[in-house]
Amino acid sequence: MLAETTTENTQVAATLNPSKIMQTGMGFWASKVLLTSVKFELFTLLAAQPLSAREIKQHLSLNCSDRHVYDWLDTLVSMGFLERKGLLETALYSNAEDTDFFLDKKKGSYMGGILEMANNRLYQHWNHLEEGLLTGKQQNESKDNKGNMDFFEELYKDERALQEFMDAMSGIQSGNFMSLVKQFDFNQYPTVLDVGGADGWLSIQVCLNYPDIQCISFDLPPVSPVAQKKIDSFGLTNRIKVVGGDFIKDPFPKADLITMGNILHGLNENLKQQLIQKVYDTLPEGGAFIAIENIIDNERRQNTFGLLMSLNMLIENGDAFDYTLNDFEKWTKAAGFKKVELMPLAGPTSAAIAYK
Ligand SMILES: C[S@@+](CC[C@H](N)C(=O)[O-])C[C@H]1O[C@@H](n2cnc3c(N)ncnc32)[C@H](O)[C@@H]1O
Repeated sequence: MLAETTTENTQVAATLNPSKIMQTGMGFWASKVLLTSVKFELFTLLAAQPLSAREIKQHLSLNCSDRHVYDWLDTLVSMGFLERKGLLETALYSNAEDTDFFLDKKKGSYMGGILEMANNRLYQHWNHLEEGLLTGKQQNESKDNKGNMDFFEELYKDERALQEFMDAMSGIQSGNFMSLVKQFDFNQYPTVLDVGGADGWLSIQVCLNYPDIQCISFDLPPVSPVAQKKIDSFGLTNRIKVVGGDFIKDPFPKADLITMGNILHGLNENLKQQLIQKVYDTLPEGGAFIAIENIIDNERRQNTFGLLMSLNMLIENGDAFDYTLNDFEKWTKAAGFKKVELMPLAGPTSAAIAYK
């Protein structure tokens, strides 16, 4: 019997491959190598000039052995984040083209904000996924508080954490916002209200592409100065109004188009429906609503990032979750919207659009 099982196992092992299991299971090693590099601003350092391992070690004040510096840098080479000429003592390291574009902090295209936040916050909080699944409770800074969205109040007590969160949001959404303003015709909507607009990045993108549109960026009061500063730096002070308020408690300013980037997914189903109703009631006839999120495919098989983001919402908010276009259609139709459509943006993100 034992011999039979062993033969059977050998045959199965010849056709199956465990690499997916191992790659994902040990994925935190690779993840942490990249996140640590971003934290050390390695790619910003190498954007200026190629350096040897010894020079990198000195610049970053590393105290580990030379061997481990080579290991760390060569891991990044093997993963395609760095390029290298020479080997060990003779090696010169430089950024790969995409790393240089997206992870040099001195470039406008920098999108490492989300990775900085992943390293400083999410990495620790995701260690409690088991507890989240067992209890259904949020596992972040406001773990011991009650209530949805309390987490922002907690996070924004720290100015550095507020700025880091803003940078993380605009970093992860940049490509999506740029794609949305290119694909969707904003010209039909003279006034755009971005609810939960963070540092105003979507409003800025809209205004840069549509010279006649006025925007309102609406977010919690502690966010207003950060948004105002960024909007002023783009010379758009007269075109984007910053409004501080609570999207649950306060009325919305009137607008022809209302947008929400990664807002609905942070709420439980009741609050989602309540907010969508408020959007509908605020819009004029012919108005539209756009949610920019990692919309999960209706069959819930393809958009792994969207599904993981939904688990991230368990970590962040407890009862919040990401959703499919079918879900969005159900909620928006219940509020009174006539039709919906999906516009794929960058990577796993789409715009779910509802027309009044
Ligand atoms: C996940 S971020 C999304 C930011 C931005 N829309 C984007 O797509 O990157 C959620 C935003 O909603 C804001 N927010 C959370 N609760 C809010 C509330 N009750 N009223 C107004 N804004 C709120 C947060 O301050 C934050 O800027």
